[in-house]
Amino acid sequence: MKTALITGITGQDGSYLSEFLAKKDYKVIGMVRRNSSVENRGRIDNLPADVRGKIVLEYGDLQDMQSMVRLLKQYAPDEVYNLASQSHVKISFEQPVLTAQVTAIGALNLLEAIRISDVNCKFYQASSSEMFGKAEESPQNEQTKFHPRSPYAISKVFAHMAAINYRESYGMFNACGILFNHESPRRGENFVTRKISIQANRIKRGEAKELLLGNLDAKRDWGFAGDYVEAMWMMLNHEKADEFVIATGQSHSVGEFCEIAFSHLGLNYKDYVKSDPKYMRPADVNTLVGDASKAKKELGWEPKVSFEQLVKLMVDADRAKN
Ligand code: NAP
Ligand code: GDD
Repeated sequence: MKTALITGITGQDGSYLSEFLAKKDYKVIGMVRRNSSVENRGRIDNLPADVRGKIVLEYGDLQDMQSMVRLLKQYAPDEVYNLASQSHVKISFEQPVLTAQVTAIGALNLLEAIRISDVNCKFYQASSSEMFGKAEESPQNEQTKFHPRSPYAISKVFAHMAAINYRESYGMFNACGILFNHESPRRGENFVTRKISIQANRIKRGEAKELLLGNLDAKRDWGFAGDYVEAMWMMLNHEKADEFVIATGQSHSVGEFCEIAFSHLGLNYKDYVKSDPKYMRPADVNTLVGDASKAKKELGWEPKVSFEQLVKLMVDADRAKN
């Protein structure tokens, strides 16, 4: 039985990856931060009992290298997935230093913890399409130049380059997945897709009258999180450590997401959606679209859920919760 250590296990991707690995008969060690309440563990605690039974939660923090050395020595994992970060782009403008401490230096802390513990493990870094930012070419692939547009994105560039540098310097098996946006019913409630799927349902039930958003013209390459965690595992089980873009190759605007979500509930989004400066960013990324041909060719990875299916499954999941 293989052992995987996951940082960020309580997040969207952490829960899907845990589920995926548990079904492959891994023992999953999840690093969790101490919180005053354990409510943020819902995504893990609500997994089926046979899956939950293969997950052990242990305290640790990306800002606390000692806690990670302890876990690495205790469990000697075969695979380490670094999914933890301050992952909200808009909030990174409000907390730039914290974002860098967690998302950039936190990743370096983990790489150092692996190096000094001398554990023979493969390492996955959750890199992001936000690193392309104001992209110079479209679609973006592994060769596209980075032009990060937020404290979050510059922190991700640092962590990405640190993972590559530790591979080149110390021969570590460090793979970086440059993942484009991926969503699900477990997406955090302040990311745009989930904000739309929740509020469209509230409007349909008569509990709300409008949905306030920021930039409706921004375009993203949106896929399903369940498909994307499989790519993470494929990267660590590939013959060599490398970088891979993971994307659907199609881009849609925030407005289009609204249109499908509202019309799925029999509503016209134009009657309810309004733009509010509060949700605008000092610098936004207007359009992202990825070219995942390398992952398709070398890993055999393919996205399975289409954009329209994704929007509808998120709206349906939030409808079923009430
Ligand atoms: P998420 O839902 O925001 O989850 C972030 C996780 O990081 C949570 O478990 C959070 O724990 C944990 N965390 C935050 N600060 C921490 C710290 N100091 N020490 C330890 N854990 C900490 O993010 P996600 O959507 O699952 O994304 C997973 C990773 O992929 C992130 O690194 C994100 O930046 C990156 N990424 C995401 C996407 C996407 O579209 N989803 C695309 C590209 C890259 P709490 O529950 O305690 O807050
Ligand atoms: N969150 C949010 N809230 N975004 C809004 C809103 C709103 O009310 N209105 C418009 N948007 C626009 C944002 O300006 C952005 O252009 C787009 O919707 C997507 O925003 P988010 O859903 O917050 O995601 P993101 O693209 O900034 O970042 C996500 O994807 C990255 C991968 O490209 C996060 O998951 C990052 O962690 C991830 O790296």
